[in-house]
Amino acid sequence: MSHRLLQAAARQPLDRPPVWIMRQAGRYMPEFRALRAKHDFLTVCRTPELAAEVTMQPIGPIGVDAAIIFSDILIPLTPMGLEVRFDDKGPHIDNPVRTVADVDRLIVPGAEETCAFLGDALKLVKKELDGKLPLIGFAGAPWTLGAYMIEGKGSKNYSHIKGFMYNEPAAFHRMMDKMTDTLIDYLRYQVASGADILQIFESWGGVLSPDDFRTFALPYTKRIIAGIKDTGVPIVHYMNGCGHVLEELSDIGADVLGVDWRVDLGEAFDRVGHKVAIQGNMDPCKLYAPIPQIEAEVRRLHAQVAGRPGHIFNLGHGILPDVPVAHAQAFVKAVKELKYDPALV
Ligand code: CP3
Repeated sequence: MSHRLLQAAARQPLDRPPVWIMRQAGRYMPEFRALRAKHDFLTVCRTPELAAEVTMQPIGPIGVDAAIIFSDILIPLTPMGLEVRFDDKGPHIDNPVRTVADVDRLIVPGAEETCAFLGDALKLVKKELDGKLPLIGFAGAPWTLGAYMIEGKGSKNYSHIKGFMYNEPAAFHRMMDKMTDTLIDYLRYQVASGADILQIFESWGGVLSPDDFRTFALPYTKRIIAGIKDTGVPIVHYMNGCGHVLEELSDIGADVLGVDWRVDLGEAFDRVGHKVAIQGNMDPCKLYAPIPQIEAEVRRLHAQVAGRPGHIFNLGHGILPDVPVAHAQAFVKAVKELKYDPALV
């Protein structure tokens, strides 16, 4: 039998929705903090045995319905020619893209030649999962990765990337083309290594106006999805701050749209014309609430879905590092206790 997550992605009717958590392997778990005390973040990402170990950490204790390979969206930027490092404040790129010449220097690397550690980690996890749970592979969307490439770190106003986009549109589009080619190969390599489903993270696309999103972001993600479609694995497009462009996202080619908590789930299904499944979308900060409130919120969101097939339960963005483990467990348990009302299905 197929996995619950894959059935939901295909909008098949189920007794309850599947559940997993974005960033489910991370600092809120004591097991992760213990391993990180011994190894730095990039070492964990680039050592297949360590990445596989961390990928498995939330499976038993949290009870999720899927594993997501432990890695980071910035991993493919290093082989493209950028010096990426992580410190206490997050990611840093020491040689950000700021000029046309910087764009022209970017490399389109082969994933197998430069990221074999990722393929090896996927193979190890796949073996350990032994068919019991599906394995999620992932990449960042070109615009979100472009934001890191040009800003060099997280940003409040995205002034460097937007400034570059408006002043050097031809070079900007060349950069996005290089990134798109890189990511098609990177995602295909993950499927070849065992990924059962892929998620594309457009974490910062929500800071663009609808028109800029249409011009500078959407066409590239669309080309990526078209370039991996023949692998046959379902594709999830997650975008934080997607409410104003949901209709346009509905024909991006994804099987599932991941939405943030500002969107009503029932309205999301109706606005995409029931063409795709919907993933989400509890506010990650709800996990700070007392457990009965978390349970009530799970039931409230389930009521919004109202029996429509194709809902994957998740948060509306990644889990935060200081959330109590018991609250993450309560969230997953509450989803597993849901039952679609047969009268609605
Ligand atoms: O979901 C999972 O369990 C898989 C692991 C995963 C990580 N990063 C591990 C990580 C995934 C899917 C990501 C994706 C990612 N990385 C995104 C998209 C998702 C989102 O949250 O919007 C983004 C924007 C990044 C870039 C990134 N990596 C930032 C901004 C930071 C620093 C902020 C932070 O949360 O620490 C990271 C570091 C990072 N990536 C950590 C983890 C567990 C923490 C690093 C540490 O252990 O010190």
